[in-house]
This record gives sequence, C-alpha cells and structure tokens, in this order.
Amino acid sequence: MNDTTISLTLIKSMIRRFIAPTAPKKDRGQAFAPVNIALCKYWGKRDALWNLPETNSLSISLGSLGATTQIQLSDASHDQIFLNGELISASTPFAKRTTSFLDLFRHSESTYYHIETTVNVPVAAGLASSAAGFAALVLALNHLYDWQLESKQLSILARLGSGSACRSIWHGFVEWHKGEEVTGADSHGVPMMDIWPALRLGLLIVSAECKSISSRLAMEKTRATSLFYPAWKDCVTQDLARIKEAISTQNFVKLGEASEANAQALHALMMTTLPSIVYANADTVALWHKVWALRAEGCPVYFTQDAGPNLKLLFQAQDTERLLLAFKDLKVIAPFGSFQAPLVSFEGGQK
Ligand code: PMV
Repeated sequence: MNDTTISLTLIKSMIRRFIAPTAPKKDRGQAFAPVNIALCKYWGKRDALWNLPETNSLSISLGSLGATTQIQLSDASHDQIFLNGELISASTPFAKRTTSFLDLFRHSESTYYHIETTVNVPVAAGLASSAAGFAALVLALNHLYDWQLESKQLSILARLGSGSACRSIWHGFVEWHKGEEVTGADSHGVPMMDIWPALRLGLLIVSAECKSISSRLAMEKTRATSLFYPAWKDCVTQDLARIKEAISTQNFVKLGEASEANAQALHALMMTTLPSIVYANADTVALWHKVWALRAEGCPVYFTQDAGPNLKLLFQAQDTERLLLAFKDLKVIAPFGSFQAPLVSFEGGQK
C-alpha cells in the first residue's frame, strides 16, 4: 500500500466512526448550502489529503446565494452528475473530484448516485461555488441516509471535499478552527452569533475566464516555495484578531481595513511564489484604484479578492446607491437579508 492508499483507508475509518454503512432511509436527499467569502483567508495546508489548514480563517456566507443539491441512488453503473441541468462528463476534473469524494460514503461497492446540483450565483463570478457545492452534497447525503450528524461533523466531512466548504455549513460569520489533531477531528467551522443587517457585499466581475491555476495547486506551491510564508501565518493571526474585534463591535471601517489588508497580503504572498502567481489583471488593478479613490472622497468601501481577478466589495446599506452609480454591473448581496445567523442550512433543522 502506498501513502495515499493508507491515508484514504484512515479517512474512511474516521468516517465510519460516525456513519454506519447502511442503505439510505429515504428515496432522495436534498439540501442547500450558501457560498462563503473569506474575510481572513485560508492559504496553505499542513496536510493536503485531509485538507488541514496551516491557519484559522473567517468568512461571511452569502445568504440565499449558493448550491442546492438533490441526491438519490442510481441504477446506472456509474455516478450521474448534473450541474445546472447539464450532464457532466465523467472524464472532467469536476466529475472525477466529485466521484472520489462520494467514494468515501458509498454503503456498498456497487452503490452509485444520481446527483442534480443547481448553483444560483453568476457562474462567471469567481465565487467559491465549489465550497457551497461540497457542503450541499454532504448535507444532502446526511438527509438521504438520515445520519442525523451534528453540524460540526458535517463541517468536517465537507472539509474533506474542499477546505473552505467546512465554512459553508452555516449562514453568517463562520470561523474555521485549524485544529491540531492529525485526523482533523478538531478542524471545522464554528459559527459566530453576530448579526450585522446593514452589511453589504458587492460582486464585481472582471473576467469570466477560468483560473490560470487552481487554488488547491497554487497554495501548495506558495507554501513550498515562498520565503514569506511564515510571515503570512503571523499576518493571519493579527488580521483575524482585528476582524473578530470589528465584528463584535460592529466597527465597519475596522472590518473593511483588516479584510482588504488581508486580501492584499495574500496576493502579495502569491507573487512571491516561485514561479510567481498573479490572479489580478489590469482591470482588477484599475478597480482597486477606483475603490481607493471612492474612499478618498469619503465613501467607506473596501474590497476582498480570492483566487481569481474578480473583486467582492464590502460596504454598508446606506452607501448602496452611490456604489451602484459608481459600478454599473455591481451585484449587491445582503448576507443577513432574510436569514438569521447561525442557521444550519439543511432540511431537518439545526443539531
Ligand atoms: O477551499 P479552496 O481550496 O477552494 O481554497 C479557498 C482559497 C480562498 O478562496 C482564496 C481563500 C478562502 O479562505 O476561501
């Protein structure tokens, strides 16, 4: 057995500790999970197979924007995966990643699934829709099999699909505690009770093109080659404390300053990777300047940016009209619009 096979066996035995391999109790499982945007970013794993991060991170979920998944057993001899109504070819990286994740949960070797996922975020938005997708899949499996797992356990399972998915189990602000254990039993999301109704996020789509390099690969390269990686870990410690303080006191300027600084530190860190990783393009940089110019004119608006060229603005409800005038294609999101944090987002209520 090679290292990966041994680790997969370990992962499966960890899962078997809280899930018995019995047939589904229901004909169909269904669930929704929101997209989450990190205000203090996760970049770098201490263990790649278990998706265990080097640092804590903190996000805000985007209310009703996210993924809805339905899952049932299939008579076919392979999984059938539909995304926004389209059958995804089994040879695509998307299908392969989903299928190997499902391998962790099949109750028998001949179990295959029929999955339909719809994502209601603009496909080109560069939003972390895979995080919402893996979280919705775990929640739908929990519903199908009637495992009745606790939110913390669901978060751990979602993390195995995509690290940041562990934060998409809840609405509102969620901190991902990095944990210390080798098997990741203490590495999961922790919802925060704070509700901030006036908080707004705005999506600015610069480019619909695919990422030049996936976040999964990019963060491995940064961790392995950047001399600045140890400094990034210190930076996260500081930014996380400032962001949590800003949330608990509802200090918007502090939240904006710390979140934007954290995103800029991340992108500076990426540039120091060998070879250099740059997700921003010329339009992205022009938008940074536009945000800074608006701030200089007295409009409190900040940005954050993930593994792509698109920006997410942070602002308050009272500045919405001004920002819609400044950015004609801005898509405005009220993260606490119709939800109260922390609600768990699967059928059957919170555990
Ligand atoms: O969970 P992944 O592999 O999609 O990585 C997420 C990386 C960032 O979006 C850039 C940061 C984050 O914390 O979400």
